[in-house]
Amino acid sequence: MKKKLALILSLSLVLVMLTGCGQSGKTLTMATNAEFPPYEYHDGTEIVGIDVEIAQAIADKLGRELVIEDMAFDSVIMAVQSGKADIAMAGLTITEDRKESVNFSTPYTTASQVIIVKEDSDITSPDDLVGKRVGVQLGTTGDIYVDDIEDATVERYGKGFEAVQALLQDKVDAVMIDNQPAQVFVSQNEGIKIVDEAFTVEEYAAAIAKDNTELLDQVNDAIAELEESGELQAIIDKYITD
Ligand code: ARG
Repeated sequence: MKKKLALILSLSLVLVMLTGCGQSGKTLTMATNAEFPPYEYHDGTEIVGIDVEIAQAIADKLGRELVIEDMAFDSVIMAVQSGKADIAMAGLTITEDRKESVNFSTPYTTASQVIIVKEDSDITSPDDLVGKRVGVQLGTTGDIYVDDIEDATVERYGKGFEAVQALLQDKVDAVMIDNQPAQVFVSQNEGIKIVDEAFTVEEYAAAIAKDNTELLDQVNDAIAELEESGELQAIIDKYITD
């Protein structure tokens, strides 16, 4: 009889432990798309970059263990909505449309959409994109903007880098992408350049599920602290040098 009781007790203990592990209290799961240097990219087997380090600093402040979920860029918002991830950080631009699906933290940096062309291109400003074939990463703000350009053909790629490959192979006339990854891709390839005039100015922020206002407050507090202490700028400066 005693044995049976002990068995039941230990079984229920195991159950409690198992369910305890599944709670989001211990980990902070971040949805991202690690194809976006210097914000998130693969370095060997590791995923590194500005967003990863900011997320790590936030997780440290919250006493939670950071877990990175690498996925297609156009899945990161859904991952947060469905609860698969607690937070999305992916060089993610705040847009009115996205605000209908998720909450955004306070922005932690600004960015812009720029145009990459071949060095001898006749495209010298955003206005010249009319009627051109423009490569973008699927589901990005670049994708949305190019879609609005008169007569432009949007060629969508899973990775920004693949859009740049298409430009090098003359499959597209230009690529629209965020300024920092653009600089990285241009520095890694011969014969392409960034058009002087930027297309937009945007802000990057972390996305959090609408119903998780507790985490939103915590993340906003953490970002404010990181800003104040200079840690945020130090992380950015580590990856971006002008
Ligand atoms: N800033 C753009 C957007 O929010 C592009 C972000 C792409 N990020 C990435 N990790 N691939 O749509």
